[in-house]
Amino acid sequence: MKVAEAPVSHLSHFECSGCHRVFERELLPSFCEDCHAPLLARYGFLTGIEQPAFHISHESMWRYFRLLPLSAPRHIVSLGEGLTPVISLDRLGPVLGIEHLWIKDESLNPTGSFKARGLSMAVSMVRQAGKTHCVVPTAGNAGGALSAYCAKAGIKATVIMPRHTPEVFKKECEYFGAELILVDGLIDKCGWLAREMKEKHGYVDISTMKEPFRLEGKKTMGFEIAEQFAGKLPDVIVYPCGGGTGLIGIWKAFMEWRELGWLEGPLPKMIAVQAANCAPVVQSFHLGKTDQAFRPSIANGLAVPTPFAKKMILDILHESKGGALAVEDQDMIEGVKKLAKYEGLFVAPEGGALIAALPQLLDQKLIQQDDTVLLINTGSAYKYLENMP
Ligand SMILES: Cc1ncc(COP(=O)(O)O)c(C=O)c1O
Repeated sequence: MKVAEAPVSHLSHFECSGCHRVFERELLPSFCEDCHAPLLARYGFLTGIEQPAFHISHESMWRYFRLLPLSAPRHIVSLGEGLTPVISLDRLGPVLGIEHLWIKDESLNPTGSFKARGLSMAVSMVRQAGKTHCVVPTAGNAGGALSAYCAKAGIKATVIMPRHTPEVFKKECEYFGAELILVDGLIDKCGWLAREMKEKHGYVDISTMKEPFRLEGKKTMGFEIAEQFAGKLPDVIVYPCGGGTGLIGIWKAFMEWRELGWLEGPLPKMIAVQAANCAPVVQSFHLGKTDQAFRPSIANGLAVPTPFAKKMILDILHESKGGALAVEDQDMIEGVKKLAKYEGLFVAPEGGALIAALPQLLDQKLIQQDDTVLLINTGSAYKYLENMP
């Protein structure tokens, strides 16, 4: 598709989410070393953009170009990510006692998960900066997405993954031409190695929330939700939370949409669902600390023992009057089965976890029966079959 060169990004600077220090508009910033906190892209909005003057004729998340940080459309690395449907769960909803239950199905993205959005954004920024080698620690999906976008961009990728990850995640990285390194342990251990490789070889480290651009890609989920719910957002959004990028991104999108004057009325309660095997956000939300030795989960993406952006996640959960809860692996599988049998959707265990969480959320009155509830299904069951009975 031909893309016009005219539109420019409104990116103005980066801001530390901890100390609020302003960082100038560098090409590839990482995070604030002083307070060890993520950076946020800030825009010189926000006047004169008409909704929905989106912004280039791209049938992907790139239609929001002016609300994204890339300088010029010619740097876009796209495989057609975004514009995923919101589907009414009109058979399963009543069974669970929720009349207006919806799911945003991110499994339809390139490489089968919402990671495509963040990696399309980050790899585009890397290409714009003229860098040639990226490294990422991953629970699986981000590695596949990075490898695919790097293949498309002609950039080298190194992917560091826990050894116990299902084979398909490894194989896709290899098919896409990435270097694959397997590690005994969880994603935090992979992250230490990524940092070492950044320092030793100068690779661009695109670990979750340790650079500001994957968040900007994931933010487009929030823009889409605002459009799909046509100005009246759902009462509750339920999100499978690992590193938290999607949850923070959706919230950031709502803030920006509101700043633009396109969003009125109350914002949704944001609910983080985690795996009982590894639930640092849930523990911190309820106990103010973590006290568990974390174990792997069949929902690989939720097994993140030390999310770098945990404080930001917790702030959003509190600010939105939402909550956090954990579900067992076997209940995630029951959730996957319910979505398959009632709705014809075959979702990742991360998506199944959301269904498993709903009865508890109703019990705890975090959801009312007549609320409009939106679940974010982040991935596809087809990549997890090895993990599933
Ligand atoms: C399918 C799936 N869902 C959820 C997550 C967690 O993502 P986030 O960093 O946005 O919390 C991941 C991360 O690997 C994932 O692969």
